[in-house]
Amino acid sequence: MLDPILTKPWDILGNWFQNNDSTPFDTAHGKTLWDYACHVPKLVHLFNEGMASDARLIINVLIDKCKGSFEGLDSLVDVGGGTGTVGKAIADAFPHLNCTVLDLPHVVAGLKDSGNLKYVGGDMFEDVPVADAVLLKSILHDWNDDECVKILKRCKETISKQDKGVVIKKKVMIVDMVVMEKKKVNDESLKLMETQLFFDLLMMVLQTGRERREEEWAKLFFAAGFSNYKITPILGLRSLIEVFP
Ligand SMILES: C[S@@+](CC[C@H](N)C(=O)[O-])C[C@H]1O[C@@H](n2cnc3c(N)ncnc32)[C@H](O)[C@@H]1O
Repeated sequence: MLDPILTKPWDILGNWFQNNDSTPFDTAHGKTLWDYACHVPKLVHLFNEGMASDARLIINVLIDKCKGSFEGLDSLVDVGGGTGTVGKAIADAFPHLNCTVLDLPHVVAGLKDSGNLKYVGGDMFEDVPVADAVLLKSILHDWNDDECVKILKRCKETISKQDKGVVIKKKVMIVDMVVMEKKKVNDESLKLMETQLFFDLLMMVLQTGRERREEEWAKLFFAAGFSNYKITPILGLRSLIEVFP
């Protein structure tokens, strides 16, 4: 967070308010974060390490608290799964589950498949490998509403292709924040909400995204053609949101 590449966009917020660039990051560096990162190995490395360390923090709690959510699944694709910290932990915890990590080609280049875990380089807007379930951890908060609906539609297509003639719980599993309702915030949860709002700003500065309240999430799910969803708080700021076709 404190590397000058990532702090510079905060310094030029004033300019950004007066131009038509999609993000302050764009104004500072002339490219989106993902386009810029693929030419700057130091940034890719920093970013992937940061995400992997966040993943290590949350994945054991997710697996422990939400074991039932993985039951009945034979395959799962972790879309935008980075270098595979989450994918690997899921593949180890559920050895019967075939786990695929999809990320941009330069992110997964050189990563080796092993056992029930494999890596695929690609673009989630174009193609998502077929699976019973799609995991999106810290993905949708990077993107604006139209982009999220595109990603969610792609995910819905992917899980709909899997037809084995048996009842399986096809779904999209989102790990992200659900911003608290102001009226429900008390002294204890105020700090959590402030941090959620800080992330909301961060997503505006670095990406085209935002953090969302429950009703804002629901709007995206229904716009992408899903029929139902369930929210389970997992750790501090984050929840698991299961979205059903
Ligand atoms: C905020 S990180 C989340 C990483 C991982 N899910 C985690 O929580 O540790 C977003 C990821 O999305 C990937 N990404 C960005 N654009 C993508 C695209 N078009 N297709 C696939 N992955 C993409 C990035 O390379 C990055 O690894």
